[in-house]
Amino acid sequence: MTTSTDLDARELLAGRLIDGLTQAMEIFGVYLGVELGLYRVLAASGSATEDELAGQAGVAARYAREWLEQQAVAGYLACDNPSDPVERRRFRLPAGHAEVLVDGDSPYHLAPLALVLAGTARVLPRLVEAYRRGQGVAYAEYGRELRDGIAAANRPMFRHELGSVWLPAVPDLHQRLRSAPPARVLDLGCGLGASSVALAHAYPRATVLGIDLDAASVAAARDAAAAAGVADRVSFEAGDAAQLTNEGPFDLVTMFEALHDMGDPVGALRAARRLLAEAGSVLVADERVADTFTAPGDATERLMYGWSILHCLPATLAEDPVEATGTVLRAPTLAGWAAAAGFAVVDVVAIDNLFWRFYRLRG
Ligand SMILES: C[S@@+](CC[C@H](N)C(=O)[O-])C[C@H]1O[C@@H](n2cnc3c(N)ncnc32)[C@H](O)[C@@H]1O
Repeated sequence: MTTSTDLDARELLAGRLIDGLTQAMEIFGVYLGVELGLYRVLAASGSATEDELAGQAGVAARYAREWLEQQAVAGYLACDNPSDPVERRRFRLPAGHAEVLVDGDSPYHLAPLALVLAGTARVLPRLVEAYRRGQGVAYAEYGRELRDGIAAANRPMFRHELGSVWLPAVPDLHQRLRSAPPARVLDLGCGLGASSVALAHAYPRATVLGIDLDAASVAAARDAAAAAGVADRVSFEAGDAAQLTNEGPFDLVTMFEALHDMGDPVGALRAARRLLAEAGSVLVADERVADTFTAPGDATERLMYGWSILHCLPATLAEDPVEATGTVLRAPTLAGWAAAAGFAVVDVVAIDNLFWRFYRLRG
């Protein structure tokens, strides 16, 4: 029998799907704005008509009109003269929006997440097949958008917080990185190297070795270190964190939003521990999820499970994994891995961050 509660639930879910569809399409509108440089033109020019935007960004005028109108209707852009003839309407970024959409140095620069989502959209048919067969979808298959999007979203945090907030929260580590003899840092799962470069900038004596399984990421990381003028102290190698053949010792091993992606996380932690100097530590930053599964979950759990079903779990399964955790790496699981890898101490470091929790592994 269908009750009135069932009918309410039906209405609610149907409405939620429409809202979700609208928001998903708006995220792909942001993707177009980023990829085509449309927001950049608007930020540089202050405001633009459809013809001005089309001319300056190099897109077709009819598309420029539709995108501008959609963005204004969605509230991403403002239109100050909506009653004017369409070709005379001027569109601009409202105050504060440029920081989120175009300022690559701002901690609010979250537009790159639209690129990450576009990277997952690229492989959706592959995911359907992978789910049926229990296969993985390799990180590289998600393409440039996902790689660049992750790096661009995380880079401002590394640049502004890694050396001035995060590591100072662990005073003895901070002190070691500043002192002689020059400290050695190993950055595992370094992606495009933004954390490695930020470490080198924050600690001018230190040398940094970044390692990542994805060859395209390592090539881009090398370019980033050269462009930042730190290639003499920052180097990169392609490889699996669990199969390290490098020479230690390292004073610090970092893993920024990477441990949950690794196919052999205990192997990676064991390798890191083997390469540590006597008083060395591993610093892991991973998702700030709850300690246990509850359903329904909060906004963070929903976000992380979203990435998990679309990207992290399939990418890890493509590593022929010992373990495939997905994005939702809970603190008790991490503590168990650390113990299995031989660490005696796992401390949660008191660092205020919306998405990540920080763990220091020692002993
Ligand atoms: C979410 S991204 C984070 C990248 C970077 N740390 C950042 O914060 O921008 C995870 C990274 O882990 C890398 N990765 C996954 N499995 C790995 C493994 N077994 N060994 C080394 N790197 C791995 C991926 O290639 C990817 O670059």
